[in-house]
Order: sequence, then C-alpha cells, then structure tokens
Amino acid sequence: MNTRETLYINEKGHLIIGGADCADLVNQFGTPLYVFDEKHIRDMMRVYQDTLDREYPRGGLVLYASKAFSCKAIYAIARSEKIGVDVVSGGELYTAVEAGFPTDKIYMHGNNKLPREIAEALDCGVGTIVVDAFSEADLIECEAEKRGIVQDVLLRINPGVEAHTHAYVQTATPDSKFGFSIASGAAENAVRYLLTKKRLRLKGFHCHIGSQIFEKESFVLAVEKNIAFLANLKNKLGFQAEELNLGGGFGIWYAEGDKKIGVKEYSEYLSALIEKVKSECEQHNLQLPFLVIEPGRSIVGEAGITLYTVGAIKEIAGIRKYLAVDGGMFDNPRYCLYQSRYTALLANRANEPPTERVAIAGKCCESGDLIGIDFNLPKAQSGDIIAILSTGAYNYSMASNYNRNFIPPAVLVKDGKAEYIVKPQTYADIVRNDVLPQHLK
Ligand code: LLP
Repeated sequence: MNTRETLYINEKGHLIIGGADCADLVNQFGTPLYVFDEKHIRDMMRVYQDTLDREYPRGGLVLYASKAFSCKAIYAIARSEKIGVDVVSGGELYTAVEAGFPTDKIYMHGNNKLPREIAEALDCGVGTIVVDAFSEADLIECEAEKRGIVQDVLLRINPGVEAHTHAYVQTATPDSKFGFSIASGAAENAVRYLLTKKRLRLKGFHCHIGSQIFEKESFVLAVEKNIAFLANLKNKLGFQAEELNLGGGFGIWYAEGDKKIGVKEYSEYLSALIEKVKSECEQHNLQLPFLVIEPGRSIVGEAGITLYTVGAIKEIAGIRKYLAVDGGMFDNPRYCLYQSRYTALLANRANEPPTERVAIAGKCCESGDLIGIDFNLPKAQSGDIIAILSTGAYNYSMASNYNRNFIPPAVLVKDGKAEYIVKPQTYADIVRNDVLPQHLK
C-alpha cells in the first residue's frame, strides 16, 4: 500500500484517511462511499504551482484538469490554492462558475465544443479557449464579434509522441481525434488560419500526450518537438508564442508494480519539463513562454478511495471466489474499460495477512461488472468493509446510474472531520427526468 501521513493502517487494523477511521465513516455515511483526502489534494496542487514559481522565471500556472473529478468543492479548493482549472464541457464550466471560480483562470477544452458551449464560455468570460478545429475558430470568431470582444485562444497541437500507456488514453499519436499534427504541417496551417481572425488572439499552444504516464522522457520529447515548432513559426511567420501548455498525464500508484511517487517527487517531473523548456528555448534563441500544465489524475487520484460493504460471496470450486460488493461498474467502470488494476484492503481488518485470492464483483446485471479479479485479501465475510485505493480520479466523473443504481455520495475528510461534497441520490433523483406521455398513463 502507498501509505502517507494521511493514509495508513492504525494499530487496530483500521484504514485511516485524512484522520478519519474508515469504519466510522461507514457507520456515519454508509456504503458505497467515495472518500477524498483534502490535505493530499491541496499538497498536490501546491507542489506543482510551487515548483513553477520557484524554478521557472517567466512564470506559469497549474490548471487542475477537472474532468478527473468535478464537483463544486473541488473548484473551491482549486480557487483557494490560487491555481486555474480546465473544463471540457458546458457542465464542468457551469459547476466551476457555480462554485465561484474566477473565470479568467478557466481554460476550455474539447475536440467538438458545441456552439452553445462556446457561447456560454464567452458569456461568462472564460480566460482561454483551446481551439481544436477550423470550424470552432469560425464559431468563436462569430460569437466574439457579436459581443464586441477579442477572445484569447491556444491552438491544440499534436507533437506525435507515443507515450507508454493504455491505447484509449494516448492522445498524441498520428491517428488521433485531438489536435493538429506538427509533422504533417496541419498545425502550421491552423496557425496561419487563426492569425487571420480579428476576434481571436492566439497566445500559443497546447498539447497533451496521454494519461497515466511514468516516463519523463515522453514529456521531455514532447517539449523538444513543441519548442522546435515554436522556433519554426518565429522564423517563418514572425509569430512569437507567449504561452505553452503541456497538458497533464503524470502517472499515479494504483497497485503493486506501479511506481510509488511521493508528493515532493512530482516536483521532479515538472522540473524535468522546465529544464527542457529553458534549454530548448535558449538553443533556438526564443523568449521563454508562460508555462501551463494541467494535471488531473495525480492531483485527485491517490487522494480518493472507495468504500464498499461485502455482500454475497460465491466460491466456484477450482475456478474463482467472488466477493460481491454494493457498488460496481456504475461507480468505477475503469476495470471494464481499461482493465485497470487496483489495490483492495479489508478496511476494518487491514493488518491481517492475506490468505486468499479473490475477484471483487459489482451488483450490476452483467458478468463483466468487476472491480478486478486478482486481489489478495484475508478471508472476508459478508459485512466486511472493502476499500479500493486510488479511486479519486475518473471514478465519480465516469460513474453512471446503470441499472438505476445510485451514484454514490462523496465526502471530503480533513483532520478527522468528514463532510459531504456530493450528496446521496434518492429514488426521486432516479426518475427526475422521466416523463410518462399521456397515452401511456
Ligand atoms: N489535459 C487534457 C487535454 C486531457 O485530455 C487530460 C486527460 C488531462 C489534461 C489530464 O490528464 P491526467 O493528468 O489526468 O492524466 N478516463 C481515463 C483518463 C482519460 C484522460 C483524459 N484526458 C481513465 O480513467 O484513466
């Protein structure tokens, strides 16, 4: 287990997160339950911003990639840490605005932003829109014209770096729906196009090479390609980029075999990027751009755990033992989608040695509804609490009401005190948008 000051097993064998005993959390809030450790989230936000402030003279901004976990509280935390956020939909934007997030520090992403979303972004004064299509540039130009404003934009480019991660979360390969390829000349053409737009101010570029990446080399290579592109534009078009956004993607620890990176060590990932930006700019005789990064997973991933109660237990002789829990693919679809690995603990008996290998199944009506198939646990009984670690990123945000199950509530813990940040759903919520036409009544 990747322990830290705010996540460890106490002498009673109970899992403690943010000073709260998971057994007490279950008594108070029930299961399934997402639990978030506020201190860890803040520490991660701060380590990135401090590194930029300390090591990069031109200055920079950390954006929390809010697709990893979006609810009002997380934007409030980002606001109080004085960092920015990125949003990828009208829904994320609305949530940020509702939480009082300063809109000038919001970056709007998306490979197919809807006309409505662009209008909403301009209406609330979103600081930067990251353009990912010619048609989108036209739409923003038109909406900006209507409002008599000039909109700051970045162009999403694709540096063509293949990061070692799951194919579904690679984004900068030649065959990608994201960005304009540097190598093919598409990026340069897009720059020429954006420079013809009177209502768009092209600040610079954005790239994101993928997610759950551990090799610094992939990021460093992306920097090299991006800066070479910047130099090429300066020479050819006389265009000086003033901002470079390198996206997110730093990996986290999920299970045995993953690298354990302490909060402070994440600073080293960023330092490697900063050093490369500095040296490449010097080599190409370029002014340093304002530097932006947008980590999501590494800020909230290890900060979050999910608590379940064991229900039915089924042992199929010679094949497998299933522990069924009161959650499943509706609160964590990542095993189904990416065969993601996790670490499970019996949160109320976490210091007992593992004695059996089990699969943890959800309660949905399909065989593939699993959290994983090879967990080593002490012999579990119905009623035991299972904690799945590192579920803070892309679990709640990808949850659904499949089988009309409730999306679990989320609590934020700090100094032993837990409070809801997402309330439990009710059956009324489940049928809220259903309509019975007259002829079916
Ligand atoms: N910026 C952009 C433009 C992105 O597309 C992403 C993630 C990030 C930043 C944040 O990347 P991170 O630091 O979180 O790796 N649902 C998948 C992950 C999809 C990532 C999508 N983009 C999963 O559960 O693993």
